[in-house]
Amino acid sequence: MGDFVRIVEVGPRDGLQNEKAHVSTADKIELIDRLSATGLRTIEATSFVSPKWIPQLADAAEVYAGITRRPDVAYPVLVPNETGYERARAVGVEEIAVFTAASEAFNRRNVNAGIDESLARFAPVLERARADGVKVRGYVSTVLGCPYQGEVPLADVVRVSQRLHAMGCYEISLGDTIGVGTPHQARAMLQAVAAEIPLDALAVHFHDTYGQALANLLACLEAGVRVVDAAVSGAGGCPYASGASGNVASEDVVYMLHGLGLRTGVDLPRLAETGRWLAARLGRETGSKAGKAMTAVP
Ligand code: HMG
Ligand code: MG
Repeated sequence: MGDFVRIVEVGPRDGLQNEKAHVSTADKIELIDRLSATGLRTIEATSFVSPKWIPQLADAAEVYAGITRRPDVAYPVLVPNETGYERARAVGVEEIAVFTAASEAFNRRNVNAGIDESLARFAPVLERARADGVKVRGYVSTVLGCPYQGEVPLADVVRVSQRLHAMGCYEISLGDTIGVGTPHQARAMLQAVAAEIPLDALAVHFHDTYGQALANLLACLEAGVRVVDAAVSGAGGCPYASGASGNVASEDVVYMLHGLGLRTGVDLPRLAETGRWLAARLGRETGSKAGKAMTAVP
């Protein structure tokens, strides 16, 4: 494997969808523009899901239309169905992400549909995306545990990942949605999926609820994964897991990767400053330890 790791910054979407504080449309746009000036190559900008389900991102179209798009940065958005696809395309979206779970119970709570039903919903979306030249990423949630069914069999993670990949998703992001996994378990999960799907089409997505995210990430990096989802300032949480913290903080991930001698192309001080700025907007301390250390005022 190479020494470059692509960070998929999910703060503006996965982070903000779970923050209680109101964030204005202008601040969301500023967040994305600040992030795109740090050297990040992929920034998940927002989500065209039902505003009844996720009111925090009801201004998705305004946000997307307002950002200054850089040619070297991809700005994927989350899409749950054809309605979302049409809303996204209307403002010029060129990359989307679809999402389902390895746990049937979780998927029902999240999108009001079983796994097979959600995959069937994506079939026409993927067909249209292919015809329109739109890239599609796929998420599998609850890969290391589910708040409803508890353990999630590895075979289910593999099966759902394979389905998304076969449907045309160029990359599958494996998500420990509620942040309960530990390193050896995380690596075994990655390796089980990698036995069926090329490793370079896989990404890992950790939440830090039990403080395991960086350790899990390291275990997966050692197994060869080179795409990592993270959220600046550790933004987010999970509405279905009490006490759940947000995504692993991008600043912490970049700090660790650079320390390991891996490249990200990200300007860490600039990213830390953006994390500090976002935390102020959210009215709380940054969820990034590296960010806190780097922006501390003596
Ligand atoms: P539903 O209520 O079962 O279906 O929702 P519906 O089709 O009857 O839609 C209800 C209403 O929403 C209707 O409006 C639709 O028109 C409208 P009404 O007739 O009542 O006025 N609607 C929409 N409006 C705007 N955009 C749309 C859209 N679709 C329908 N796209 C649905 C089903 C899938 C839409 C809903 O459950 C939903 O949007 N869920 C999204 C939940 C979500 O965003 N969860 C968080 C993302 S997943 C995640 O965070 C995990 C991840 O980070 C990885 C990890 O951490 O593991 C990816
Ligand atoms: Mg997530």
